[in-house]
Amino acid sequence: MVAPLYFSRVALRTGDPAISYFMQQAVESPNLISLAAGLVDAESLPGGYVAEAVRKILERPESMKAALQYGTTQGYQPLRAAALEHFCRLDQLTPAQLNLDTNHVLITTGSQQLLYLIAEAMLDTGDTVIASSPSYFVFNGLLQSVGTRTLTVPGDDHGMNTAALEELLHRMNRSERAKVRLIYAVSYFENPTGASLSLERRKHLLDLVRRYSIDHRILILEDAAYRELRYDGEELPSLKSLDPENHYVVTGMTFSKPCAPGLKTGYGLGPTELIDTLVRLKGNHDFGSTNFTQHILMEMLRQGTYHKHVEELVRVYRQKRDAMLAALEAEMKPEWGVRWRRPLGGLYIWVTLPPNIPCGAGTQFLQDALAEGVLYVPGELSSGSKSEMRLSFGVEPPSQLREGVRRLARAVAKQFVKWR
Ligand SMILES: Cc1ncc(COP(=O)(O)O)c(C=O)c1O
Repeated sequence: MVAPLYFSRVALRTGDPAISYFMQQAVESPNLISLAAGLVDAESLPGGYVAEAVRKILERPESMKAALQYGTTQGYQPLRAAALEHFCRLDQLTPAQLNLDTNHVLITTGSQQLLYLIAEAMLDTGDTVIASSPSYFVFNGLLQSVGTRTLTVPGDDHGMNTAALEELLHRMNRSERAKVRLIYAVSYFENPTGASLSLERRKHLLDLVRRYSIDHRILILEDAAYRELRYDGEELPSLKSLDPENHYVVTGMTFSKPCAPGLKTGYGLGPTELIDTLVRLKGNHDFGSTNFTQHILMEMLRQGTYHKHVEELVRVYRQKRDAMLAALEAEMKPEWGVRWRRPLGGLYIWVTLPPNIPCGAGTQFLQDALAEGVLYVPGELSSGSKSEMRLSFGVEPPSQLREGVRRLARAVAKQFVKWR
């Protein structure tokens, strides 16, 4: 008999991602309409633009050699400069107005790696992170694996309830407060609820971290993964832009959602000492994200095809969001009491069933939905309530979105028939 392997505490605390069961279902049942997958629209992936960028890079010996060589740990300098310009332009500011230069930018393997590196840099077992509930379940899983204590405050149509956050911070005693390291906020079109943090709450959040950073600085981790996928409404200033001294906010951005997840490239912008620390840690991970991909993105930004693509994508997703909203309106009978939020961007619609219809793992409703041939992500995976769910309009075309919602409505109808 071979002796058992020894696993670290982190490994033992790391469970299978909760979503994997749902992904498996989709893979195993080809007729299933998955409103669960967080993938992006396949038809609009920028194959032509990427091919053009690759051709341009490879046809010149100097750029070919630069792109196929190892890069630097912090990331390709021209891409850091371009990403910084791009980010600041979204806020209609210059890098100088935000006290940012390319040293404050780190290129990562997706924004997920940035989240991981920040956790590694700032959190020890027993430290506290505050997030809104519900919240991005992959980050929740990461925190669990690190062994932090996650405290939540409720979120609503305007994102994290900062009045509740203030109350929480106020109630803590000094030693509890001394453990608070990070406040995590998905600032635009949240995964899973689609809500964006209102301007008033953004300002309040900044005010709170300034006031409560007494013995150490509490950092806001702004996850802006969906920022560029806005279909209606005004552009809101980033939390980062409300921190012009560059002291209190680190922001994660990604090229996955607005461009192509297969390129798996993101970037973070934050205070000097944090970015320097993240660069050192990233050296241990991979001493630099894929250099070739960074060159491709740089070329797309240079040629303007990146921006063209985002514009096209926004049109596609707006249509898909509207198709799903119209289907919900048409299929869910008012007397059922099903409610949903109308997101102004992102990829998700947050649906609330009546409280007597739980829809999480192991429920009759989930079984009925699977039997009808439709899948969703139960809200409880993101610490939502037992009768909430996340629907994604990212992957399926409009006709399938309509059919998926029709199937879901049949599963809801079944519950009502049962009660009569
Ligand atoms: C809120 C949020 N943050 C971060 C990510 C990570 O994406 P990526 O690593 O592809 O940038 C995702 C992916 O779904 C997300 O939904």
